[in-house]
Amino acid sequence: MNFNTILVSIKDRLAQITINRPKKLNALNEETISELSLAFEKLEEDQRIKVIVLTGSGEKAFVAGADISEFSNFSEQEGSLLARIGQEKLFNYIENLSKPVIAAINGFALGGGLELAMCCHFRIASDNAKMGLPEVSLGVIPGYGGTQRLPQLVGKGKAMEMIMTAGMISAQEAKACALVNEVTTQEELLPTTQKIANKILKNSSIAISAAIRAVNAGFEDGTNGFNTEIEEFGACFGTADFKEGTSAFLAKRRPSF
Ligand code: COA
Repeated sequence: MNFNTILVSIKDRLAQITINRPKKLNALNEETISELSLAFEKLEEDQRIKVIVLTGSGEKAFVAGADISEFSNFSEQEGSLLARIGQEKLFNYIENLSKPVIAAINGFALGGGLELAMCCHFRIASDNAKMGLPEVSLGVIPGYGGTQRLPQLVGKGKAMEMIMTAGMISAQEAKACALVNEVTTQEELLPTTQKIANKILKNSSIAISAAIRAVNAGFEDGTNGFNTEIEEFGACFGTADFKEGTSAFLAKRRPSF
């Protein structure tokens, strides 16, 4: 896969997408959003790939936000279109991907950058990372799902504070409020993320996809997550992975999914 603004590498069943505009702190311009969207679509279709890691290039930034230079002259209509297309094409798409997506936050994750990390299934950060939603300092609000996903992750009060102050929090503070799961050194960020990915790879991808759908259902308007869980749970009983997982347990051997 050849792109201008991102790099995609594949090793065994693990894919890594690296946003690659380090001189602009990996800010998300239209091209980057389109390329990310295409890369995720291709990886979703690729049966070999079981886990995806998303990170930024360089030592300074994961993503320092949406590219401010691209939207500073936008009208109201263009503004809503920017948010709608971004949410539908990329942010919601990642959240609902059938394969686990882990954000490895290697530096600034601001605005659209934090929103991108938040639509991943979970996040690991290096100790130099700084996170925040600075949009109100620009006279706008988060538009790629930040007002919805930040409260889901850190609670309403903390999210309100972060959005209203437009301030940044450290990786340790982000861990304390459950925005990230782990904090590592910069050198250890990708090895630690890969170690977690390797644990995931031992498990049933079919069951993991079902779990993603069930967890996400609880956050969908008008969907009863408990009912989705019952349906997905039942459907697992018809899969070869369920037969393999339970037979392997009873035979005291490792399952081969
Ligand atoms: N959009 C467009 N360009 C951006 C950007 C963004 N969100 N974030 C950084 N850049 C560009 C800068 O304009 C600069 O480009 P230049 O070298 O051509 O002038 C380059 O990336 C490096 O950024 P710089 O500001 O010089 O780095 P810094 O270390 O002094 O500051 C930040 C780092 C992250 C604090 C600062 O870049 C920043 O505040 N960025 C905007 C964050 C933001 O508001 N994001 C939300 C957008 S909705």
